[in-house]
This record gives sequence, C-alpha cells and structure tokens, in this order.
Amino acid sequence: MTRLATERLLKVCLTATFADPKEVKPTIDPTALFKLSYGLFVLTAKDERDNGCIINTAFQVANDPTKIAISCQKNNLTREMIEKTGAFNVSVLTEEVPFEVIRHFGMQTGRDVDKFKDCTEDVRAANGIKYIPKYTNAFFSAKVLSSTDLGSHTLFIGEITESRVLGDAPSCTYAHYHAAIKPKC
Ligand SMILES: Cc1cc2nc3c(=O)[nH]c(=O)nc-3n(C[C@H](O)[C@H](O)[C@H](O)COP(=O)(O)O)c2cc1C
Repeated sequence: MTRLATERLLKVCLTATFADPKEVKPTIDPTALFKLSYGLFVLTAKDERDNGCIINTAFQVANDPTKIAISCQKNNLTREMIEKTGAFNVSVLTEEVPFEVIRHFGMQTGRDVDKFKDCTEDVRAANGIKYIPKYTNAFFSAKVLSSTDLGSHTLFIGEITESRVLGDAPSCTYAHYHAAIKPKC
C-alpha cells in the first residue's frame, strides 16, 4: 500500500472512531462487554477431593516465566480450593464440547455433587490435579503467585508449571458457546 493510501485509510478509521471529545458525554453501555472475546475452559483443583468448574476467564498475562490469570466467583467451591492449595489446572475446551459437559461443570456446584464420581480413568497432571482429556486441545498447570479480591470475584495469577497439547480441534470461544452449543430457550 502506498504512503498516501495508508494515510487516507488511517484518517477514515480515526475520524469514524472518535467524535470531538468536547461533545462526548461518557455513558456505560453494558452490552459493550459482549464485544470482548473469551475462550471456554474447565478449571480444576484438588484438596481432600477433586472438583472443577467452567470459566471463560483464563488468559496469558506474562512470559518468562509464563503466567496466566483466572477470575473466580467468590462463592465457587473451586475458588475456595485454589485459595487453600495454591494450585490449579486449566483445560482448554474445543468446539466439539457437548452442552452436557458445560452444564455438569458450570451449572452445579461441587458442594452438592461429586463432579468426578463417574470418572472411570484417573487422569492427572504432574501436580496431582485432574485435567479433562476429552473435548479439550490443551491443558495448563499453574501455581498461584498472587490473588486479588475484586469484590464479586478473586483474580488469581499463576505461574505455569506444566502445559501439554492434547489435540488439534479448534478452541471453543465464549461466542461459539452462545451461538452453537448453548440450547436456545
Ligand atoms: C459459560 C460459563 C462461563 C463461566 N465463567 C465463569 C468464570 O469465568 N468464573 C467463574 O468463577 N465462574 C464461571 N462460571 C460459573 C461456574 O462454572 C459455576 O458457578 C460452577 O457451578 C461453580 O462450581 P463449583 O462451586 O463446584 O466451583 C461460568 C459458567 C458458565 C456456564
């Protein structure tokens, strides 16, 4: 692209994006949050027993050493277990994941049910915590470096202690979950 064409393109882009700051009244449109993109994961932990829940909030936040962040609702059992033990695994769900898996881990609490009761194989990472071997394409193990109280959630930052690729299927995004997996009422 020529320099002139690049300048024209940028002018259009910036003019369209930003109005005159003097005329802009700040508003908060909560639907703007729907424009953010996320993945979908099973977050697992272990104390006296195994448990896990669905999260859409896991992402790499640093490298060398590699660190990931996860955000956990305060009342989740998984969050309590991570707070207590300082370790967790994140399994990356693929687009093939059936809704039943999301429902099982994400719509009931381990306080009421043993979510791993029907597990026939004991699949664990080196940290002793279970990971999910099916409908996933990778998992990460992490040890907690810090936790921040966000009011409704706790933000954990963890350093990666193990990571493994399990398959090539595309990762499930939060948008794909809403468009193609979550049943329409
Ligand atoms: C699509 C989806 C996304 C979710 N994302 C999060 C999340 O990012 N963080 C979180 O703490 N809970 C999230 N949840 C809710 C937990 O998975 C849910 O509260 C679960 O029942 C907690 O189980 P536990 O009490 O056994 O830990 C999500 C649930 C669904 C269905």
